[in-house]
Amino acid sequence: MLGFGKHTPPVTEALVIQALATVNDPEIHRDLVSLGMVRDIVVDGGHVAFTVVLTTPACPLRNQIEDDCRRAVGAIPGVEAITVNWDAQVPRDNRLTSRVDIGVRNAVAVGSGKGGVGKSTVAVNLAVALARTGASVGLLDADVYGPNVPIMMGAVGAKPFSRDGKKIEPIEAHGVKMISIGFLVDPKQPIVWRGPMLHGAIRQLLGDVNWGDLDYLVIDMPPGTGDVQLSLTQALPLTGAVIVTTPQAVSMADVVKSIAMFQLEQIDVPVLGVVENMSGFVAPDTGKVYDIFGRGGGQVVAEQMGVPFLGDVPIDPAVRAGGDAGTPIVVADPDAPAAQAFAAIAQKLAAGISVLNVNRPRERMFQADPDLAIMG
Ligand SMILES: Nc1ncnc2c1ncn2[C@@H]1O[C@H](COP(=O)(O)OP(=O)(O)OP(=O)(O)O)[C@@H](O)[C@H]1O
Ligand SMILES: [Mg+2]
Repeated sequence: MLGFGKHTPPVTEALVIQALATVNDPEIHRDLVSLGMVRDIVVDGGHVAFTVVLTTPACPLRNQIEDDCRRAVGAIPGVEAITVNWDAQVPRDNRLTSRVDIGVRNAVAVGSGKGGVGKSTVAVNLAVALARTGASVGLLDADVYGPNVPIMMGAVGAKPFSRDGKKIEPIEAHGVKMISIGFLVDPKQPIVWRGPMLHGAIRQLLGDVNWGDLDYLVIDMPPGTGDVQLSLTQALPLTGAVIVTTPQAVSMADVVKSIAMFQLEQIDVPVLGVVENMSGFVAPDTGKVYDIFGRGGGQVVAEQMGVPFLGDVPIDPAVRAGGDAGTPIVVADPDAPAAQAFAAIAQKLAAGISVLNVNRPRERMFQADPDLAIMG
């Protein structure tokens, strides 16, 4: 027997809904019930079970949501036990599906003003970190000039094939589906990328690949603000961009320029945040932190430009080694501070994307681009 007192009215689904309607998603600032995040309420005497459908499996605030739900439902008289089940459904960037439906819910470019700041390293580790939370993730190596993704993901020499003679199957590694020009052309063969050819290649890498239903497509960009950036933003309305920088002042000036580029009216890509890479070196023997390139610049520039700061990643020789060996540090040593930093940045990024999509006005739809027959 469940033994509630004589005068306690029975617990009902309506009471549970009422209680959960007082719990807000901490980032979207709306209640779980009106956001459609509560499903499958089962009341069995004093035992209440329900499912919370998060807007990303990489939700950084799951514990807080759980505590808030338990407190609200636990306050209903007669409730004795609560089971919270979890599910996730990543909201779609509706601009993406309205223009080119390649099966991708969200496309995020990882860019920088300057070369060598760690874009590819960040793109690879964020993609794998997101996949490790349970999200379905793709990785597009858009650096046609110097594709590094095959090495960093441990997939050198992989040859994509086509099942249906139309779309090519992406290569899969560390739970991520990926494509790179490095898989498709002879790496020893130099290619001079001219405008239209470059444009065509970018479109093919996007549209001719059988991505399946991806929650996130992470795009590793070449450095700077050039042709690839333009081709990509013309081919696909990007959900947003992540800007990578090192802490030095020279790098900062380039960051301002690349943020400004994404924010140009004709490009119109929201900047989802700044990542400061190579921020401090933790001496492995003493644990002492040395600020080799300075520190904190990423945060300052993010504040100046009014965009989120996603976090910093320390210099760790294991990050480079992981890249060279094809086992990203988030897989090779998930407890290392750099790996933890990538995981936290991935969560913050995923949360930012969800908030953006939930709040995105529906009328901001793109016109279909008639040139995109390739993606039919
Ligand atoms: N946090 C880090 N700690 C140690 N090494 C790092 C870190 N981040 C990146 N590296 C190393 O720095 C080098 C440059 O990184 P990466 O290739 O990711 O930069 P990039 O911005 O993509 O360069 P490019 O502009 O040439 O595409 C690589 O050898 C990489 O392993
Ligand atoms: Mg790179």
